[in-house]
Amino acid sequence: MTKRVAILISGGGSNMLRLVESMVGDHPARPVLVASNDPEAGGLKRAAEMGIATAAVDHRPFKGDRPAFEAALSAPLEEAAPDILCLAGFMRVLTPGFVARWQGRMLNIHPSLLPKYKGLNTHARALEAGDAEHGCTVHEVTPELDDGPILGQACLAIAPGDTPESLASRVLTLEHRLYPDVLRRFAQGDRSFHQLS
Ligand code: GAR
Repeated sequence: MTKRVAILISGGGSNMLRLVESMVGDHPARPVLVASNDPEAGGLKRAAEMGIATAAVDHRPFKGDRPAFEAALSAPLEEAAPDILCLAGFMRVLTPGFVARWQGRMLNIHPSLLPKYKGLNTHARALEAGDAEHGCTVHEVTPELDDGPILGQACLAIAPGDTPESLASRVLTLEHRLYPDVLRRFAQGDRSFHQLS
């Protein structure tokens, strides 16, 4: 049976777009909702233009009350009844309660080769560490930040002239290939680790 996919974004949503574009033809899943914590997120408009239902729940009025924000976000999510929830540049930390609700069905993409560089500023940290390689990871979401079983990774070699900006751009290109690849496999029930070459 076709799986229903909801995607959470906070910004431009380029990963969201790649996921949506991938869910056609014989793909085992279809997008049912794109939701954001930022009503101005560029990705919301792009999703609506592609005919996908959208929802925005601004986190700011909740003033740090994460459970209350998540309860509000859960209303459109529950209505869309997704089988899989993809975090795609969703920049809010989730409570253990929210994660428990979706655990085993929630994926995240992170711009580093986890377990290295959880959190923010991943590209600058890889450069500062003098790493030879960098990349991105798709993993299942568990209560610990940027933790959880790793489903796929894609790597690149750091070049002598790389800056945080050049790395961000090159890694994003890899993310656009990795996330659709992992989602397709995950929707088919494949939770094994794959290295994208
Ligand atoms: C992506 O690079 C994604 O990996 C990162 O935000 C960017 C969103 O871009 N996510 C995180 O840092 C999560 N901790 P997009 O809105 O164009 O997909």
